[in-house]
Amino acid sequence: MVARHLSWLVTGASSGLGQSIAIAALQAGHKVIGATRDVAKAVNTSPDFSGKGGIWVQLDPTQQDSYEQFARISKEHDIDVLVNSAGYAFIGGVEDTSEDEVRAQMEVNFYGPLRAIRACLPVMRAKGFGHMVLISSGAGFIARPGRGVYSASKFAIEAIHESLTQEVETLGVKVLIVEPGAFRTPFSTHLITPAAHESTGGFSKPYKGTALDSMVTMSRGIMDVPPPHLVRGCPDKAGREIVKAIDNGYNYLRMILGPDCVAAMEQKLGSLHHDFDATRAVAMSTDIDITEKV
Ligand SMILES: NC(=O)c1ccc[n+]([C@@H]2O[C@H](COP(=O)([O-])OP(=O)(O)OC[C@H]3O[C@@H](n4cnc5c(N)ncnc54)[C@H](OP(=O)(O)O)[C@@H]3O)[C@@H](O)[C@H]2O)c1
Repeated sequence: MVARHLSWLVTGASSGLGQSIAIAALQAGHKVIGATRDVAKAVNTSPDFSGKGGIWVQLDPTQQDSYEQFARISKEHDIDVLVNSAGYAFIGGVEDTSEDEVRAQMEVNFYGPLRAIRACLPVMRAKGFGHMVLISSGAGFIARPGRGVYSASKFAIEAIHESLTQEVETLGVKVLIVEPGAFRTPFSTHLITPAAHESTGGFSKPYKGTALDSMVTMSRGIMDVPPPHLVRGCPDKAGREIVKAIDNGYNYLRMILGPDCVAAMEQKLGSLHHDFDATRAVAMSTDIDITEKV
């Protein structure tokens, strides 16, 4: 039983985390609109979705006219919850990555979700109720070797959400950033590596044997690691926790998912504390002298 039946719009609903969230929301009694670039494919890959009453819409968030589509859908279905899950990871070294590859990553992981948010906000604002849910990543807070571009896209869209939550908190709209660790979805089969270095394993020769080589090689074969597996996250469990948070309320901005993400986050927080302690005294010393003329 849910207190209130909500109207959800989920991008990337045809697969992985988006699919699990969409199904969990339907199971909890909500109405769910699933956005996909290819409805015919989605009907095949996610038969449960239509079976449980989900409604597919054809929409590619990377297309500029998707703003109008998001706006129309949000009005037509009176959307209460927007989940931005569509995304992919570009894994490649800073030096090895072309500007076009960076732009393509930003188009999907940054501009797409931003368009969706801007288009859906007016409906939520008008009724004084709504949730903006971003499926970010541990990589939205931690940038590892080979993940600079992916992390840049997730850091950037997290910044939008961190800012947005303060802009809309008095207007009845809540914001939730989800930071999953590694989850067992088709995500790793959609990884993209630098095209120019495909013939040498996804990185340029000088990086052989470095942290970049390890990360690219590990990422490409990550789902092949035998039990106990490197990728242990269960997408259906994640989906249910996200729906529970929306239904029961939450008093945080970031929801971390997966023990691997907890460990990585502890390490990052430790390094932030280290830098903070190491530079605090200097930081406290750089204001103008009040006797100094400016
Ligand atoms: N799985 C993980 O380990 C993991 C960890 C941390 C964060 N995440 C994040 O979780 C989100 C969902 O990932 P997932 O694991 O569910 O992956 P997935 O199974 O590959 O699903 C990704 C979805 O994104 C859409 N998509 C992919 N490339 C796109 C493109 N170029 N343009 C537009 N849409 C595109 C696809 O939608 P259509 O093909 O239907 O249009 C697909 O449904 C992503 O934002 C990802 O960064 C995943």
